[in-house]
Amino acid sequence: MRPVGKNDLILFDFFANTQNNPYICTLKKIADMIEKINALLAEINRLKVQNNDEIEAFRIKYLSKKGEIASLMNEFRLVAAEEKRFIGQKLNELKEKAQEKINELKADAENQSLSTERIDITRTAYPYKVGTRHPLSIVKKEICDIFGRLGFSIAEGPEIEDDWHVFSSLNFAEDHPARDMQDTFFIQQGVDVMLRTHTSSVQTRVMEKTQPPIRIICPGRVYRNEAISYRAHCFFHQVEALYIDKNVSFADLRQALLFFAKEMFGQDTKIRLRPSFFPFTEPSAEMDISCNLCGGKGCPFCKHTGWVEILGCGMVDPNVLDNCGIDSKVYTGYALGMGIERITNLKYQVKDLRLFSENDIRFLRQFEGAN
Ligand code: DAH
Repeated sequence: MRPVGKNDLILFDFFANTQNNPYICTLKKIADMIEKINALLAEINRLKVQNNDEIEAFRIKYLSKKGEIASLMNEFRLVAAEEKRFIGQKLNELKEKAQEKINELKADAENQSLSTERIDITRTAYPYKVGTRHPLSIVKKEICDIFGRLGFSIAEGPEIEDDWHVFSSLNFAEDHPARDMQDTFFIQQGVDVMLRTHTSSVQTRVMEKTQPPIRIICPGRVYRNEAISYRAHCFFHQVEALYIDKNVSFADLRQALLFFAKEMFGQDTKIRLRPSFFPFTEPSAEMDISCNLCGGKGCPFCKHTGWVEILGCGMVDPNVLDNCGIDSKVYTGYALGMGIERITNLKYQVKDLRLFSENDIRFLRQFEGAN
């Protein structure tokens, strides 16, 4: 059968009006449907969209339950059997074209959004910037690692403390100036709660709970009520070391210190111990290392002495052992304490202490790659 054409329609129309023939009316209907399908096909071909909303509007218009194709399908049910094949093909073509167009428009939209995001998957990747460790963390870790190699393990204690752990247990006399309000941050006046002024308080906490052998290293933050300047801060960091066992001697202390100095500042480093005083050690000493800038020859950094001071140390005072429940007739021990800022200053020549807490990215970036 040849497809129904325009001239057929005029003819059919004529008969339809004059003879009211139902078959001819059906043919007229078919012709209308074909015209409609052709118009829709042309519309699909021409269609351009700006955005996803318009694609969705197109889908609804054509393919939804109440859309154009669905309503043509309803009419299709009434088509005479002989014409069904032809109209059916036309309708299928329309349906496929509509679906194809939607797929095509969606793919275009996707490519469009990819290209506006400017992702070029063939590009080499941007270098990935990793953060830097804080110089104080780098040095703290290094100190702990060195003592770790000597068998020390890390112990930590609270920053908010009481008089017993910070002062009394460590043999500070009642009128010792370090207890002064000028130095210590008290949480509340007249209440025995304060910010620790040194990490020696961790010694007490460990000794109260553990019997020797004790071999600990205690890193942490400490607080003192000082005006902030390039050489002082109201908080800073210390590492404390404590070794208690039978027969621990000053020679053991000296050997540990020499090992530490060489590991930290290089194998040529020399140490010297000068007598000093701390309430919790007897005898007490301060340790200098040969200036790591001039190698001991003398320079402005070491004030032309060839030596720089780095830490305090000594044999644990028997009173301290007894205060913490360790028998001072059986055990002896040594302790040492150092400022992490001081060591960092020596290692990296950071002249102004305030840099450590300002979080200036230009300062911190200089430690990239160190760990
Ligand atoms: N706690 C002392 C301070 O803050 C440092 C110190 C000196 C710790 C000698 C010690 C030590 O363990 O033996 O200045």
